[in-house]
Amino acid sequence: MLNIALPKGRLGDQVLNLFSSIGFQCAEIYENDRRLVLESPDHQLRYLLVKPSDVAIYVEYGAADVGVVGKDILLEGNPDVYELLDLQIGKCRLAVAGKEDYTENPEAVLRVATKFPNVAKKYYSSLNRDIEIIQLNGSIELAPILGLSDVIVDIVESGKTLRENHLKVLSEIVPVSARLIANRASYLFKNEIITDMTRKLQEAVE
Ligand code: PRP
Repeated sequence: MLNIALPKGRLGDQVLNLFSSIGFQCAEIYENDRRLVLESPDHQLRYLLVKPSDVAIYVEYGAADVGVVGKDILLEGNPDVYELLDLQIGKCRLAVAGKEDYTENPEAVLRVATKFPNVAKKYYSSLNRDIEIIQLNGSIELAPILGLSDVIVDIVESGKTLRENHLKVLSEIVPVSARLIANRASYLFKNEIITDMTRKLQEAVE
């Protein structure tokens, strides 16, 4: 049996459609109940529905053999997993944003609110810019509005959240999309099914 960790939420449906399109389906998932573990009728696949930011942890520790996770999470957590394929869905970007009328004071330490502290530190260290990280877990856009931070480092997808809060992108850090990842030992011991899945996904993506 192959254990597949899938992200719940906005990326989840697109991932399920992609997996169904290559014959890795599990009709039960569409029943929209509260179960977190679902098996395919032939008992070959087990889907684990987890919080997107936890997918890589399940895969790294072998609780799941493979998983689908955003590149943003991989860049932030740097988990010890194989990154097999860019699935070309869930496309967005990591960016610096601030108030529409924001102007930077280069003399002052920059206060950066984010749920991606490692990405933010690496980015600003490449610019030799001193920063203070203010780590939040959601609704990051509130921070500059309330003066809690000067800027934010966050995911921008449609840009709607920024627009509706009178914020704007100040600089782009890196493009993001969903990636297929595999546990290192699983990749060795379940190589046939994982390789088959990767090949079919690649064809579907192309
Ligand atoms: C993410 C991100 C932005 C928003 C961007 O938040 O943190 O707030 O999506 O999307 P947009 O550009 O299409 O508006 P998410 O919905 O994951 O919730 P969060 O505030 O809990 O992080």
